[in-house]
Amino acid sequence: MRIFSKGEFLVELEKSMGNFQSNYYAMYSSVVGGIIKEPTCMMVPVDDHIVHRGDGIFEAFNCFDGKIFNLERHLARLMNSGRLLEYNMPFTNEEMKDIITETVVAGEHKDCTVRLYVSRGQGSFGVSPYDCTKSNFYVVVTKRKPWFMIRHPEGASVAISKFPPKSDIFAASKNCNYIANVMMKKEAVDSGVDFVVSVSEDGFVAEGATENIGLITQNKRLLFPKIDGVLAGTTMLRVMELAKTLVVNGELTEIAFAKLETKDFECAKEVMMVGTTLNVTSVYQFCGKDVNNGQAGKLANKLNNMIIQDICGNEKLTTNCF
Ligand SMILES: Cc1ncc(COP(=O)(O)O)c(C=O)c1O
Repeated sequence: MRIFSKGEFLVELEKSMGNFQSNYYAMYSSVVGGIIKEPTCMMVPVDDHIVHRGDGIFEAFNCFDGKIFNLERHLARLMNSGRLLEYNMPFTNEEMKDIITETVVAGEHKDCTVRLYVSRGQGSFGVSPYDCTKSNFYVVVTKRKPWFMIRHPEGASVAISKFPPKSDIFAASKNCNYIANVMMKKEAVDSGVDFVVSVSEDGFVAEGATENIGLITQNKRLLFPKIDGVLAGTTMLRVMELAKTLVVNGELTEIAFAKLETKDFECAKEVMMVGTTLNVTSVYQFCGKDVNNGQAGKLANKLNNMIIQDICGNEKLTTNCF
């Protein structure tokens, strides 16, 4: 086996780079206290507990035309994940905001996806978080994928997952222990549907692998599963705010969280998946049965247009990077 020098190692790493890596624009790492634009060097230390224990928390959001949408809500959720899982946060909100915008600018692309990670930090390879000297912060800026509905205007198909929802603080925090979510995505791909959603032992629908699910009842109530067993999606919360205008004009009668069973989705007027990477995606098929006669729903599409307008034009909710 060859033993590399530092220089030779980097040369070999460079050779191993594939198509994905050409879409990585910039990375900030608190380990070195700066930004790197060379994908070969975008690394985290192997003894950071985020690697071998999944001991980290994260956020993902988009930047459109140089403006990050809903950054405050993402940072508030990151702080909440940190509180729930007892992290020593390495930076304040304001400091993180500065690092994030500087990394986006360094990436030189006004349209991009940003991912933040706070790790427990480097230390022994043990499980104890007390072995870590200090938390690390990483920001990775990459190419943004087109929204789901642009790639699939017909909408999405959804099935029930065989994997159970996470519980309590593990559902409420966005932590790097995403193996259950990974298995759900694998299950969706393997079974030929776009998304699967988990259902609790007592029969209540929770959420998708990386998205929330909601429905509109036949009597025009917009409902999402109760927030205590799912991640508080930033998109879902914003959609619930935006939908208030549809209550005023009579297109909806109510917006609420509720305990929802599979049958509620099966007899819904419309079903939708919501999240940062898909905005509001209408569901045309749930558990093999057509929703809304197998067509994308009118109100889901309306809510999708409303959130896109918000993302592109709501100055109060966007952070300008450039
Ligand atoms: C488990 C889970 N639920 C829901 C969501 C949707 O959250 P958001 O709208 O903030 O993207 C995500 C996002 O990644 C997620 O991982």
